[in-house]
Amino acid sequence: MAKEGTETAEETEQMIEKNAAKEPESGVTAPDSKEMRAVLLSGFGGLNKLKVTKKAMPEPQEGEVKIRVKACGLNFLDLMVRQGNIDNPPKTPLVPGFECSGIVEAVGENTKGFEIGDRVMAFTNYNAWAEVVCTQQDWVYKIPDEMTFPEAAAFSMNFVAAYMMLFEVANLREGMSVLVHSAGGGVGQAVAQLCATVPNVTVFGTASPFKHEAIRHSVTHLFDRNLDYVAEVRKISPDGVDIVLDCLCGENTGKGLSLLKPLGTYILYGSSNMVTGETKSFFTFAKSWWQVEKVNPIKLYEENKVMAGFSLLSLLFKQGGCSRVKATVSKLLSLFGEKKIKPLVDSLWALEEKRLLCLLGEQ
Ligand SMILES: NC(=O)c1ccc[n+]([C@@H]2O[C@H](COP(=O)([O-])OP(=O)(O)OC[C@H]3O[C@@H](n4cnc5c(N)ncnc54)[C@H](OP(=O)(O)O)[C@@H]3O)[C@@H](O)[C@H]2O)c1
Repeated sequence: MAKEGTETAEETEQMIEKNAAKEPESGVTAPDSKEMRAVLLSGFGGLNKLKVTKKAMPEPQEGEVKIRVKACGLNFLDLMVRQGNIDNPPKTPLVPGFECSGIVEAVGENTKGFEIGDRVMAFTNYNAWAEVVCTQQDWVYKIPDEMTFPEAAAFSMNFVAAYMMLFEVANLREGMSVLVHSAGGGVGQAVAQLCATVPNVTVFGTASPFKHEAIRHSVTHLFDRNLDYVAEVRKISPDGVDIVLDCLCGENTGKGLSLLKPLGTYILYGSSNMVTGETKSFFTFAKSWWQVEKVNPIKLYEENKVMAGFSLLSLLFKQGGCSRVKATVSKLLSLFGEKKIKPLVDSLWALEEKRLLCLLGEQ
């Protein structure tokens, strides 16, 4: 998510126009077709495991919404799925993707609140990287006219995760300070924007140096991710910070915890550091889990520190948290309407674009 501003908006618009012009020849399926195109992951591993293929057209079951997909999100989590680098990976072949935006094409029996033609964004338990998706009505949200489809596809995962961690788990309030790793990523930028909605919040962020220029305005103190961030934060704030958002699960957890002020909250929400190349690394995986084990729970209460975990997908798909997520989406859409937050779209790629596959390998 490094690019932003006018340059990206123009580039994005050009891409939409280019794709709109291309659509008839590129084989977009008609609504009455029995087949649709999707990106298939044939087995866990490298980029060669991904290909665009035809699949049977899904039809909405009871309580489901059928969406003609206009854009789908490409998140770090998708990269981890491709590698099989997640807890309990599902069986392959599968169609990746957890979020999309588009137009309602049909609704199942007993589906309420949606009509054909509604503009929506949705979470899906896989299958989002396709022309057509059927998903539970509880995971679908109407989007405002001012929100473009690419913006909507970049909105839900990043902003819902950021909002719930900051406001529901950590209780962010005026005057607090937050440390976020991967500040230039989708979640990192959503965290920075949401922190700016609360007065006097100081944001410390780490990111690769090449992103600094683009994101400097959104982060109060930005550090090179290769530096010792604990030392850098302490130079500016000797007492540490109120909230640490850690998506490098296990890497230096003890170090990050030492930065917390009394009653501060440390939230683990990802394991980006387990990705060291195009395919899964068992060594990194094992090393990370070993580090996590070293956190001493007794010290947590002696030092008045809160350690928490957050997984949006577990909340949605395993723990029945749809209504909480829906309430969060509604608050976020209000902030969007007030122009306080705006999803950042780095770039757009057509389904068949080889670059889509490259993008997955670049991280
Ligand atoms: N728990 C949840 O509900 C939830 C929801 C969404 C995302 N997440 C997690 O949040 C993290 C960020 O996701 P995202 O979609 O915002 O990512 P993103 O936009 O793809 O950005 C990820 C950033 O992570 C850094 N990175 C890449 N490879 C890394 C590695 N091997 N070790 C350390 N850092 C690396 C890079 O930034 P720099 O080089 O600038 O550091 C990269 O730009 C991921 O771990 C993802 O799984 C969790």
